[in-house]
Amino acid sequence: MKVLVLNGPNLNLLGLREPHLYGSATYADLERFVAETARRLGVDVEMRQTNHEGTLVDWIQQARGVFDAIVLNAAAYTHTSVAVLDAIKAVKARVVEVHLTDPKTREEFRRVSYVGMAAERTFAGLGFGSYAAALEHLAGGGTD
Ligand code: DQA
Repeated sequence: MKVLVLNGPNLNLLGLREPHLYGSATYADLERFVAETARRLGVDVEMRQTNHEGTLVDWIQQARGVFDAIVLNAAAYTHTSVAVLDAIKAVKARVVEVHLTDPKTREEFRRVSYVGMAAERTFAGLGFGSYAAALEHLAGGGTD
């Protein structure tokens, strides 16, 4: 199975940004964690990060026919981007939504998730573990 892991704006600043929320581990640590988890599960993973909404749309479109599924932390675009939602629906991408924190327990404006409207599952509030849970869900055939 080939999985594309996409990260949205400001996730490149992990370790620096609001450490009381996101912890002290860096984006490079997340890259290592995801690569190790993928190896353990026998999943082929590629991970990318962008601060740009259109780039996320491009990557979702281009994943069609290349990747079996997308693990998506759209970060702030989760709560604002109809374009990302439309891209997922347009290419019928299999998407698992992930978040380090649990947006539903934070500010009111984070309660809406456009990504969640098209995602088959959401894992949130587990830190890096949200990415592991998403990969385990996909590797397990999507049943758990
Ligand atoms: C986030 C949660 C979002 O609300 C926020 O805008 C982020 C990170 C998370 O992983 O917890 O940038 O997606």
